[in-house]
Amino acid sequence: MTLADSAIRWYEENARDLPWRQPDTSAWAVLVSEVMLQQTPVVRVEPAWRAWMNRWPTPADLAVDPPSEAIRMWGRLGYPRRAMRLHACAVAIVERHGGRVPDDLDQLLALPGVGTYTGRAVATFAYGQRHPVVDTNVRRVVCRAVEGKPDAGPNTTTADLVAMEALLPEEPAVAAKASIAFMELGAIVCVARAPRCVDCPFEQVCAFRQSGEAIPAGPSRKPQ
Ligand code: ADE
Repeated sequence: MTLADSAIRWYEENARDLPWRQPDTSAWAVLVSEVMLQQTPVVRVEPAWRAWMNRWPTPADLAVDPPSEAIRMWGRLGYPRRAMRLHACAVAIVERHGGRVPDDLDQLLALPGVGTYTGRAVATFAYGQRHPVVDTNVRRVVCRAVEGKPDAGPNTTTADLVAMEALLPEEPAVAAKASIAFMELGAIVCVARAPRCVDCPFEQVCAFRQSGEAIPAGPSRKPQ
């Protein structure tokens, strides 16, 4: 079985039941969730995302309100510039795409505030396309399982995208499942400081696990 297959099998049994992962989640709702999740933990994002989606279920709903309202709704999620960027994004989606979040990766990447990660996440999780979606968690999983190193570097490089692409199944819908499965593995099992290797579907094949090395406990690492 490939890494992608075992990640998908694990995901189906173990993934968290998060509201933006329901099959009927709109692309706009996925985009909002991804922007919120970039710098804020899931538990704080959940209520804020629900409130935001209740108020502005579509980009057009947000675009007609002033940016100050977006900032107000952002509340205490932190980094409020993200609210301004989502507002600008809603306006651009209305102006350029008639209010529909585009499904083309280049059009997504051209939206204000949509970077490599967010654009690929929306194309993949909302539209079921085949793109490497690489965040810190995915980088850590790939670097441990494939390269046998304890941790990845701080930024996503082209090499990271290439490494993840090589692990994706050909069928887009299956590749999209694999992408979310790798991300979830990194979020809840292959965590930075105390990975739960005995619960990991890669335990028998993970290059880092097989090396027998321990995760180094550096002074900058916060205690659990
Ligand atoms: N599901 C989809 N994207 C996610 C993310 N960035 N964090 C947590 N769960 C997610």
